[in-house]
Amino acid sequence: MTVLDIPELALVALVGISGSGKSTFAGRHFASSQVLSSDAFRAMVADDENDQSASAEAFDALHYVAGKRLRAGRLTVVDATNLQPHARAALVRVAREHDVLPVAIVLDVPEALAWERTEARSDRTFGRQVLARMSRDLRRSYGQLAREGFRKVHVLRGTEEIEAAEIRYERLF
Ligand code: CTP
Ligand code: MG
Repeated sequence: MTVLDIPELALVALVGISGSGKSTFAGRHFASSQVLSSDAFRAMVADDENDQSASAEAFDALHYVAGKRLRAGRLTVVDATNLQPHARAALVRVAREHDVLPVAIVLDVPEALAWERTEARSDRTFGRQVLARMSRDLRRSYGQLAREGFRKVHVLRGTEEIEAAEIRYERLF
């Protein structure tokens, strides 16, 4: 079992390529109301969870809601790839604005497995090259995450480690 220590009030950023199992992980470990997913926000603002042209508006709304939750002292999980430094910087900023600790959980699965899963989905239509680019972004992310301001960076490598992970909440006071 891999125990992931997380402050009981935190902004948790899931980090991983498409098909790494972020939404599955979020659904298993957190209440649905705690999880803000980029897909859901794209659907909210553009009626289409895959409409990448709606990303800016979707994330704007997601950050707004995250801020509302953190202000109320509610643990919040961001289910998005979070592979780009600017995407993570926005989350660190929202957390800091509300005196909440930002934490990252990286799900790292082999690209081939992620592709196999993605290909099997009717709600994902992007090509192999897009996934390859995400993998490059993930590898680049490793050297950057800690100094971006994340209080903790938990890395789960491979399906077994992801499967065996348990969240343990740390009392803040
Ligand atoms: N899946 C699986 N076994 C796991 C985890 C996920 O078979 N242990 C499947 C899911 O059922 C889903 C696909 O793999 O069909 C992708 O998993 P998902 O959790 O949706 O991955 P995400 O990282 O959320 O992908 P995306 O970034 O595209 O939302
Ligand atoms: Mg998902």
